[in-house]
Amino acid sequence: MKEKLELILKNATTEINNAQSLEDLDNVKLKFLSRKGELNTIKKNLKDLSDKDKRVVGALANKVSNELEELISQKNNELYKSELNKKLEAEKIDITLPSDFRPQGKVHPLTQTINEIVEIFHGMGFSVMPNEYSPEVETEYINFDMLNFSPNHPARDMQDTFYTKTAPNVILRSQTSGAQIRQMLNKKPPIRVISPGRVYRCEAVSARKNNLFHQIEGLVVDKDITFSDLKGVLNEFVRIYFGSARATRFRASYFPFTEPSAEVDVQCIMCSGKGCRTCSGSGWLEVLGAGMVHVNVLKNVGIDTETYSGFAFGMGVERLAMLKYAINDIRLFFNNDTRFLNQF
Ligand code: PHE
Repeated sequence: MKEKLELILKNATTEINNAQSLEDLDNVKLKFLSRKGELNTIKKNLKDLSDKDKRVVGALANKVSNELEELISQKNNELYKSELNKKLEAEKIDITLPSDFRPQGKVHPLTQTINEIVEIFHGMGFSVMPNEYSPEVETEYINFDMLNFSPNHPARDMQDTFYTKTAPNVILRSQTSGAQIRQMLNKKPPIRVISPGRVYRCEAVSARKNNLFHQIEGLVVDKDITFSDLKGVLNEFVRIYFGSARATRFRASYFPFTEPSAEVDVQCIMCSGKGCRTCSGSGWLEVLGAGMVHVNVLKNVGIDTETYSGFAFGMGVERLAMLKYAINDIRLFFNNDTRFLNQF
């Protein structure tokens, strides 16, 4: 029996050393150490031995079994580590590799248009007003009163305004012109600024009109500012924005905060003559409103009208983008359809 035990120890040790995987090792363990394993078979037969032999062989059997347990546990650690390493190696991800598909965001066409227009005015010495002069939630006082709209002036209806319920006389601004007031209240002339932003009007949404759109306001106040300065700046803007081939036309118009006032038209870009759907056959498209700052407005903000004069203008960003890129529906800017947006 002693020889048998030694043989078991020898064979088991070889098999343990040869085990290539945790599975192999489990099989060795089953073969030699389980209840039906070779060692246990010997232990079961101990009862047939003499007391003396029982003690000797029993002790040896325990020693063999302890030794094997120890060997198996060592091998187990070894195999576990190497299998783990193999797995980590196989599943390794190189996070420095560029992926095949990287969706890239784009600047929205309206933001692109605003940036482009701001650049043009930068080139003519204008700077952009601080944002705090141009809040979208505005008071009626700034949006209308200070801009020379009298309380019952019919012009208040020109722009269908969104009123709020939370505070009386607080509105969603209907135009960016209020920024002129905040600018002039905060800084004395010379002033040469523009201010892009959102405006809101309570209108039925259609291909031509959305109740949220964007304007860019412009304001110049200095000594000796005349209507020809206004014309020069706006003609230059149209020339750069649309390209030199496009003619402009100044039409007399009315705004409470400018006098005299004008609307500026550019030649229709999509003109197909008499039945043209873009310009209704007139050959001209209105792109902005402008005028000399009304003396009442200058007085409202405490600017000396003997020394200073100024001009202001306001243009619709969507309109300018639509005319440049031949877009026929204003809603396209707001639907976030990537088939549209990806074209810019
Ligand atoms: N605020 C005017 C509008 O929304 C445009 C405008 C701005 C006209 C500045 C004159 C001067 O229609």
